[in-house]
Amino acid sequence: MNTEEIIIKVENLSKRFGNYLAIDHISLDIPKGSFLTLLGPSGCGKTTLLRLIAGFYEPDGGTIYFEEKKLNDLPAYKRDTPLVFQEYALFPHLNVYENIAYGLKLKKTPKKEIQQRVGSMLKMFGLIGMENRFPKELSGGQQQRVAFARALVMGKNVLLMDEPLSNLDAKMRVEVRNELRALQQQFGFTAIFVTHDQDEALSISDRIAVFNKGRICQVGTPAEIYFKPKTKFVADFVGTANFVEGVVIEFDDLFIKVKSNESVITVPQKDYDVKIGEEVILVVRPECISISREDDIQRNQLDGVKGNIVKSSFLGRMIRYWVKVDDSMQWIVDDFNPKTAGHLEGQITMTLDQSKVHLIKKEDE
Ligand SMILES: Nc1ncnc2c1ncn2[C@@H]1O[C@H](COP(=O)(O)OP(=O)(O)O)[C@@H](O)[C@H]1O
Ligand SMILES: [Mg+2]
Repeated sequence: MNTEEIIIKVENLSKRFGNYLAIDHISLDIPKGSFLTLLGPSGCGKTTLLRLIAGFYEPDGGTIYFEEKKLNDLPAYKRDTPLVFQEYALFPHLNVYENIAYGLKLKKTPKKEIQQRVGSMLKMFGLIGMENRFPKELSGGQQQRVAFARALVMGKNVLLMDEPLSNLDAKMRVEVRNELRALQQQFGFTAIFVTHDQDEALSISDRIAVFNKGRICQVGTPAEIYFKPKTKFVADFVGTANFVEGVVIEFDDLFIKVKSNESVITVPQKDYDVKIGEEVILVVRPECISISREDDIQRNQLDGVKGNIVKSSFLGRMIRYWVKVDDSMQWIVDDFNPKTAGHLEGQITMTLDQSKVHLIKKEDE
């Protein structure tokens, strides 16, 4: 997807409920065939944006384009955007086959074509043999598959989903999301997926749009969102992060040196626009730090941030440490390769994987 064709373009969109600005002048481009996730805390406007795109709400300002045509003036039933909602609301009195065929029947599609299209959906979603079951005779995951099939059978190329997996238990949730991603890649439809679950967003998306209070804070690939968050909110919402405050004391084309209390941390230059003396925040993920005991440090002459382990917790695949650096700051460090000797204790030194340290300007906080 190098020359990206934009299928849906949202321009300066806003929506009010009474005095409350639920969507605050949002602009967003959605490339054709991509998987875009709207991620944000509850109440930030995700559902409202999805409903605006689907045509269930009228915007108060701005424009939505679908393949360069203005969507605002078209009613929902004339748009190419079937919506699968989290309450997948299958018709309880219709069996699997009839549920999937429902929309095609309404459109008076010839019977033969219905059989063929429903048949290919049943196959695609692994529902062969379950045609005659009713929704209550299906597991949550199977019901979800029928809901996807019922939307995709309409032959449209955009699927809007509002927290579709929230009714499933944790294991099934992971299974169905992986299936959904595989199908989207195989068939190349465009997916707009809403979730408040960061793991879900990171694992299935081409792009994530992080939302807060009716605005988009950042749009990027999962790796960009995780490793190059633009604001503290994004860094904090997506994963765990240490926020290390400091002052720029030196920089050149390759590196920036930031002094934070007694330590100097070196960050590779990535087009950051900083000045000497400027206050910045470094975002350091817990797994990008390694801990060494004091005596190791002296032996290997490592440089790093000194601290004192105050707490540790064994979590199976890793040990999480809380390291006190000074009175105002405790760092979280995840050790994914704990020594068999067990937990470390006492005075230690932390060394950072410089390439993964990210800098945020204090003013962008
Ligand atoms: N129909 C409505 N009438 C009044 N307020 C609404 C309506 N729908 C949503 N809101 C408000 O708009 C904000 C965004 O809601 P929503 O888009 O549902 O958030 P999300 O899906 O991110 O949880 C919330 O504060 C919610 O209370
Ligand atoms: Mg919602």
